[in-house]
Amino acid sequence: MERPDGIVRIFDTTMRDGEQAARINLNTGEKVQIARQLERLGVDIIEAGFPASSPGDYDAVLNVAQEVKTPVVAGLARTREEDITVAGEALRNAAHPRIHVFIATSPIHMEYKLKLTPAEVLKEAERGVRLARSITNDVEFSAEDASRSDVDFLVEVFTLAAECGATTLNIPDTVGYAMPSEFEAFCRTIINRVNKRDVIWSVHCHNDLGLGVANSLAAVRAGARQVECTINGLGERAGNASMEEIVMGLRTRADQFEAVTRIDTTKFFSTSKLVSLLTGVPVQPNKAIVGINAFSHEAGIHQHGMLCNKATYEIMTPESVGAPGTDLHLGKHSGRHAFNERVEKLGYQLTGEQSVSAFEYFKELCDKKKDVSDGDIEAFLMDRIIQVTPESRYDLKDYAVTVGSGGKPTASITLAHGDTETTEAAVGNGPVDAAYKAILKILTFSPELTEFRIRATSELADALGEAHVILRYKDIKAQGRGASTDIIEATIRAYIEAVNRLYSVAAAKEVTI
Ligand code: KIV
Ligand code: ZN
Repeated sequence: MERPDGIVRIFDTTMRDGEQAARINLNTGEKVQIARQLERLGVDIIEAGFPASSPGDYDAVLNVAQEVKTPVVAGLARTREEDITVAGEALRNAAHPRIHVFIATSPIHMEYKLKLTPAEVLKEAERGVRLARSITNDVEFSAEDASRSDVDFLVEVFTLAAECGATTLNIPDTVGYAMPSEFEAFCRTIINRVNKRDVIWSVHCHNDLGLGVANSLAAVRAGARQVECTINGLGERAGNASMEEIVMGLRTRADQFEAVTRIDTTKFFSTSKLVSLLTGVPVQPNKAIVGINAFSHEAGIHQHGMLCNKATYEIMTPESVGAPGTDLHLGKHSGRHAFNERVEKLGYQLTGEQSVSAFEYFKELCDKKKDVSDGDIEAFLMDRIIQVTPESRYDLKDYAVTVGSGGKPTASITLAHGDTETTEAAVGNGPVDAAYKAILKILTFSPELTEFRIRATSELADALGEAHVILRYKDIKAQGRGASTDIIEATIRAYIEAVNRLYSVAAAKEVTI
């Protein structure tokens, strides 16, 4: 066999096989949005649907074909005449149309599903490929359930398909049954025995045993130069091989493959998010490449290693896949090194003694709380370690809020600051807005309210109201919490606490307010 070229074409079937997954339904607008993103990502072929299967699929293929210019757009078809002509019509406006014709070749599928003899399957394949080729020059032929088919029969059917004009020959592991080393040898045998120079060999692996990606990569080693896959590994049953894993496998272990892809890998994270949003299928946190934990490290030993050299625990950078960045997640497994680093990153210079007590308090907090955020760290540094200086504190002395059905809500607030007491009043869109406007009149600076939440601590009428506020000024953020049986008072107290923290953080970071 001639050596295959060094490009692995990425054939995305998120909108065809991916959409076949239970409970996924994408409308034409959503498919067009995904197609645009796949074009930006740099995929070579987009399989937009199975036009004869439903008017919705027809419409989606028609619209995607009109929309994208660079990738080939494929429509799936059985060998039936009607399927192929409908696919051709749906693709009529595509810059690069492909008809993807398939028929099953395994004994179990031929006997029980198709109820055809192998000779009849050969005839079907021949007729289907010839008809597709009379419509477009780009025709893919797939032998469904190839991995459970007889090798001699496969060689016969693929040879025939190539002679009838198929330009891509696809070897699907339809039920995810293959094992990587076996599949590599299987593909190599077929490719060598069919021995056609001008065809591109492709694979399409399902994930029933969790081996879809491994089998796809094994096939590349055997000479496959097209891989069919989906974003986030969506697809029938346990899904299809995941595109991001295949591409990053080829890239990260380039030493194992004589082939590269044309994908802009920095778009993986955003593409995964878009597909997850539109399909409603969340990405599991530990999903390779695009899961939120894929670049997150919690164990103290790992965090220490990462701080010394990122290559200790990361084999690719988060930037290379467009992920937000390495996250040294602070939790009960984190060590002193990572904690001190975070405190410094937040802008605090602690003395040796402060640093020891801060770490002790952090560990106590981790036992109570699974996620310790930067805001939590700042809060306890302020409350327990650095502490707010009394003269910079604002204290609530008095407040009155009027809300009526007629006029606008008004609030009057009295705050003490050192020896001075100041009262201001304001009108707002609601009682809380009025109160916050009155407070802003008293302050000498104007922080921005970036988060505001209120909740009742129980369902009873006398429940405590709890308010949570985050304020920002310059680059400093501070949170405040307030609780009271009067929810307005709780929101005022939360705001004032956040203001006080803002002062303390600013002092600790030597920022003037
Ligand atoms: O899994 C499969 O065999 C398929 C074919 C239609 C390629 O999806
Ligand atoms: Zn499939």
